[in-house]
Amino acid sequence: MNRYETWFCGTPLWRWVTRRQVLPWILQGSQLGEHVLELGAGPGAATEELGRLAGRVTSLEYDHAFAAKLGVHLNGSNAAVIQGDAATLPFANGTFSSAIAILMLHHLRSNELQDRAFAETWRVLRPGGVFLAFEIQDGWLHRVGHIKSTFVPLAPASASARLTAAGFSKVTVDIQRGAYRIRALRSLES
Ligand SMILES: C[S@@+](CC[C@H](N)C(=O)[O-])C[C@H]1O[C@@H](n2cnc3c(N)ncnc32)[C@H](O)[C@@H]1O
Repeated sequence: MNRYETWFCGTPLWRWVTRRQVLPWILQGSQLGEHVLELGAGPGAATEELGRLAGRVTSLEYDHAFAAKLGVHLNGSNAAVIQGDAATLPFANGTFSSAIAILMLHHLRSNELQDRAFAETWRVLRPGGVFLAFEIQDGWLHRVGHIKSTFVPLAPASASARLTAAGFSKVTVDIQRGAYRIRALRSLES
């Protein structure tokens, strides 16, 4: 992440937008269940709200500094942070009732790593579990915002095929004002 992203993701404005707009939109019609996995928590804009909505939250964050700071903040709550990589999840098969990734997928450095993260997310979800994501579309503004950072945009048109290849079913993608949400299920039979 560059300085701009690090600053922006830690602002009260982004926390407010996440709580009031992003989460209600991506959670529409879905249940988080009792144990949610948050992928790429950053400074934690969504983490506490997820803790209010689910019995337990495990947040995975690649960056040591973010993970350490968020861990201190969440101490004593029903949320915990683990430093790790979304493409190699340090969890047993079928651990979580749901998984959520807000603005994390474009930070994975290649399509292959994104596909590996999809397969890993499918693996750690229980049968019947749901994967929800919020992403931004490609465009010059986002490219400028990611100078000296990672930006591997996931084309919404390809998301369904790629998640299906990773094992998911009933994949839906909805686009709204330059952003989009993904919902994908690990079927009960899998
Ligand atoms: C744009 S930030 C979004 C943070 C948070 N979800 C939010 O909405 O404020 C992307 C986050 O993904 C994290 N990240 C990048 N690569 C990752 C990986 N391979 N595994 C887990 N997290 C990763 C980054 O360190 C960063 O905190």
